[in-house]
This record gives sequence, C-alpha cells and structure tokens, in this order.
Amino acid sequence: MTEDIKKGLLGIVVDETEVSKVMPEINSLTYRGYAAQDLCAKCKFEEVAYLILNGELPSEKQLKNFEKVERKERKLSKTLLESIKNFPKKSHPMDVARTAVSIMGLEDKETKDNSQEANLRKVMRIFAKTPVALAAFYRIRKGKKIIKPKNNLSFSENFFYMCFGKVPEKEIVKAFDVSLVLYAEHSFNVSTFTARTITSSLSDIHGAITGAIASLKGPLHGGANEEVMHMMNKIKKPENALNWINNALDQKAVVMGFGHRVYKSGDSRVPTMREYFSKVARVKKDKKFEKIYDIVEKVMIDRKNIHPNVDYPTGPTYHLMGFDTDFFTPIFVISRITGWSAHILEQHAANKLIRPLASYKGNSYRKVVPLNQR
Ligand code: CMC
Repeated sequence: MTEDIKKGLLGIVVDETEVSKVMPEINSLTYRGYAAQDLCAKCKFEEVAYLILNGELPSEKQLKNFEKVERKERKLSKTLLESIKNFPKKSHPMDVARTAVSIMGLEDKETKDNSQEANLRKVMRIFAKTPVALAAFYRIRKGKKIIKPKNNLSFSENFFYMCFGKVPEKEIVKAFDVSLVLYAEHSFNVSTFTARTITSSLSDIHGAITGAIASLKGPLHGGANEEVMHMMNKIKKPENALNWINNALDQKAVVMGFGHRVYKSGDSRVPTMREYFSKVARVKKDKKFEKIYDIVEKVMIDRKNIHPNVDYPTGPTYHLMGFDTDFFTPIFVISRITGWSAHILEQHAANKLIRPLASYKGNSYRKVVPLNQR
C-alpha cells in the first residue's frame, strides 16, 4: 500500500494558534487580529512585541512597565560577555546568537520552570539580552570597544547605538523598527515549528529558541535576506541586472528573496518594507540598489509569476543602514524572539507531543551477522 506522504508538511494543519494569521479577506498578515502594516504605521516595535506576547496592545502604563523590564534586563553576565570575547572572530553571528541564548539558559535560575509566569520572565531576559550579545560581537570582531546599552534609548535606537556608537536619523530608526515589526511573527514557519516541536517534549524555552535560531539561519528561511545582498553585490550595477536575472532563470536558479510557502501572489509585508527601503535610500542618497531591486523583481514576475518576500527589501535596507551582511538574519532573530516565545507559551498551554510518522523505505528484516563473520 502506498502511503499518502505530505513532504514538507505541505498543506497540513497541525494545531491551532491565536498568535497570527494571513487573513485572505484583507490579503494581509495579522498579529492578534491587527494587520502588520497598520501596526507599522501606528506603533513602535515594543508595542508590537507586547501585543504578540500578551495578546492585546498595551496601555501607556503597560508599555512603560514592559520597556522598564526590557531595559533593566539588557545587562549581560560577566560569563556571557567573556565567552563572546572568546568566540572565534570568524563565527557567523547567527551561531553567536544561538550560542549566546544557550549560555543564557545555563545561567538562568528559572531554566527548569516551565510555568507561564516563569516563561514570560525568561522571554524578557532573552529578548533584552540577545541584541546586546550580538552588538558586543559586532564590535569585538572589528577590534572595537564594546558599547554598553543605554537605558534611555528604545529597543531599535539602542541596537544602533551599541553597534555603531550613535543613533542615526529618525527615518533610519523608524525603517529599522518597521522591519522588526514585519519580522516579528509568521505562524507555523520552519523556525517557529522547530520551537514548538522542541517545546512539545516539555523542554525549556532557552532550548526551543536556540533550535529556532538554528532553523532560521538556513537560506530558504531567514538566511534569505543575506543571500539577497550577496546577489545584489554580484549584480553590482543596475546595467547588469537584466542580463544577470535572465541568465539565472535560464539556468533554473532559485532566486533568493522570492517565493513563499503561504503567499503565492505576493507577501503582504513587502509593500510596507519597500516603502521604507525607499526612504532609507533617499536619506543615504544611494538609489543603486533600488534600481537593481526593481529590474530583478519585474523579470521574476514577468517570467515566473513569482513575487518577492519580505527578505527581498530588508536585505538592501539593512545594507544601506550600514550593517554587515551576516548581521541581517541576526536582526531577524532579535525580532522573531517575540513570535517564537508566544508560540512556545501557546504550546505549553495545550501541549501534545509532536511526533509524525515516516514511510519506511529501508531494508526488509534481516539478522545481525557477528563482527568476526562479516
Ligand atoms: N526562484 C526561482 N524559482 C522559484 C523560487 C525562487 N525564489 N521560489 C519558488 N520557485 C519555483 C520552484 O522552483 C518551483 O518550481 P517547479 O514547480 O517548476 O519545481 C515552484 O516555484 C514552487 O516552489 P517550491 O520551492 O516548491 O515552493 P515551496 O513552498 O516549497 O518553497 C520557498 C517556498 C520560500 C522555500 C521558495 O520559494 C524558495 O526557495 N525561495 C527562495 C528562498 C527565500 O527567499 N526564502 C525566504 C522565505 S520567506 C521569509 C522567511 O522565511 O525568511
């Protein structure tokens, strides 16, 4: 009998969630019922992080309290800071993020406590410390002094400050904040499903987020924003773009930053991020990448009817902001920690061990031949 295999779990509904949904009636990704682009227009990232974790948008008082906790938890332990200083300078920052969260798990006094209250406290620590750990590595590998977080700066401002020593123009900070809002959550994507799978054995939140980071690193998932930049660097200038993309498609290449498992006629996050990409290009007085962007996008739609996903505009936007390419996916991490955590809490609240089946194609039954007779 041939079994009905759903490779890649294509089209399979495995659980319920209240965190997010792509709503067909508005053709948009929504978090707790709110359209992501509406949140980008009206909220800062901390409000959205609160929404994703707690289910409702915060009041002014709740936001103040949330920010107070986040800012207080930014400090890294001596052990973590020393470990980061000793990491190989050539490490990929995604591996640094993964290892840093793992070390946080070694140090956290509540690692074993999987109660909702303890998990929310641990989330705040991971959420606050991961950007600080990444920025420390950003500085160290360039031979620069680590910059301590500043408690009077917002989440986004502080990340720029810790990486570059200053907070950039407000348009740049807003564009970064918008990218974090757009990256914060996307239902049962690979990394979130990884986090939920790890959680389903009743393992701890640090382990689940460590696994999720490893999963996000891959180029078919979060790693695509870095690959987009590598592609744009290969193309070099707008005059080369048309030939480059046509050749790539002739050779049946997978073009990074295009296509999506859920959206088949366009990722609802792209128009918002595209608009902010443009704003950043204007501030930086550099239109080259926008021109390349438009040419490649047009050919992908005309020839393949494949539309860009959110990683396509974030790649060049982060580049123009001054970040090293291998820091693009770690930026995705510092945002997605919120979505992962909301799913981990949801999984704990109504857990069922995730354990699918496989169709066996190996040897039929056979007897073991002892070593001296093989
Ligand atoms: N370039 C060229 N062809 C593509 C692309 C692409 N980016 N995406 C899909 N296709 C083709 C694919 O070759 C296949 O063609 P055929 O039916 O002739 O074999 C068809 O479209 C269906 O694609 P699929 O790979 O079976 O679709 P999927 O749902 O399994 O994969 C995807 C979705 C995101 C893995 C895929 O579109 C892809 O590899 N994209 C490039 C990587 C990327 O940008 N990833 C970011 C995803 S979204 C945000 C995030 O998670 O970070």
